[in-house]
Amino acid sequence: MLEKINEIAQLFTNDIGNARGMQTLEEIRVKYLGRKGLVAELMSKLPSLEKEKKPAAGRELNTLKARIQKELEARQRTLLSGASLTREEIDVTMPGIKPPEGRLHPITQTLNEINGIFVSLGFKIAEGPEIEKEFYNFEALNIPLEHPSRDAFDTFYIKKDTLLRSHTSTVQVRIMEKTKPPIQAIMPGRVYRPDAVDATHSFMFHQVEGLMVDRDIKFSDLKGILNIFTKQMFGEKTEARFRPSFFPFTEPSAEVDISCIMCRGKGCRVCSHTGWLEILGAGTVNPRVFEAVGYSPRKYKGLAFGMGVERIAMLKYGIDDIRLFFENDIRFLKQF
Ligand code: DAH
Repeated sequence: MLEKINEIAQLFTNDIGNARGMQTLEEIRVKYLGRKGLVAELMSKLPSLEKEKKPAAGRELNTLKARIQKELEARQRTLLSGASLTREEIDVTMPGIKPPEGRLHPITQTLNEINGIFVSLGFKIAEGPEIEKEFYNFEALNIPLEHPSRDAFDTFYIKKDTLLRSHTSTVQVRIMEKTKPPIQAIMPGRVYRPDAVDATHSFMFHQVEGLMVDRDIKFSDLKGILNIFTKQMFGEKTEARFRPSFFPFTEPSAEVDISCIMCRGKGCRVCSHTGWLEILGAGTVNPRVFEAVGYSPRKYKGLAFGMGVERIAMLKYGIDDIRLFFENDIRFLKQF
């Protein structure tokens, strides 16, 4: 028995001498002190020894166990203190494993870019609720009861008089109700329409609304601002064109086209061979809107515009299906 104890003691001295890391240390602990370890194995043999050999063998075995425990602990302390870090089996100079990196959604990136351009022109950013009263979505914007957009098929109604806003023009009204001119603000946000989803339609999308009100705002201010915007958004070579149009809340109204960014105006499939792409609606604020919010139309003039963020992102990045923005396909999102 004593011989066996000596043998194990010797074996342990070798093992601990070679231990370079915490994991090896743990393996050694299990090998010697574990429930089925070498020390336990000898312990189990004690009862079968001759009576007079038992005390000495027992004492030796306990001494060995205590020594193993002490040396393991001492070794652990030196390893933890880093004293033998240079001998660790870890190469600290090896490059780490890069965790996957997230990024902003292309719509958020486009929104930030649009906001940034207008902020640099002195616009403040304002927001309004997505659940709205008919007054803000329609009446105050001079959209009469018989207008087709007031049909439940064209707007999500929650209950009579309460709906999901179908455009961000609502926020124009909310700002003007709360503040006196001068106003110079953009209003980004989500809007909702019960359209069948296809490559160019979504029941939810984003708009950025713009509003400027002061004593002498002119249509030429609108043209100047939107010319700067289109050039900064789509490149210096991009031309803007103002086409007469109609919106109940602006008078006169215009739709703004940019020269096709695919063919530079020569005509291609993307611009239906017209050379132009429609990007927003705009105009000078209809005096009726001022009346609805209690401004004097005689005293104040205003300009307004509204654009769809998905449409702008699609044109800018050459995306041909709006659904890609909302499917959360990482292969698509990774490209931005
Ligand atoms: N609200 C309009 C829409 O959703 C866009 C728009 C057009 C906003 C002309 C305006 C504007 O402020 O002046 O189609």
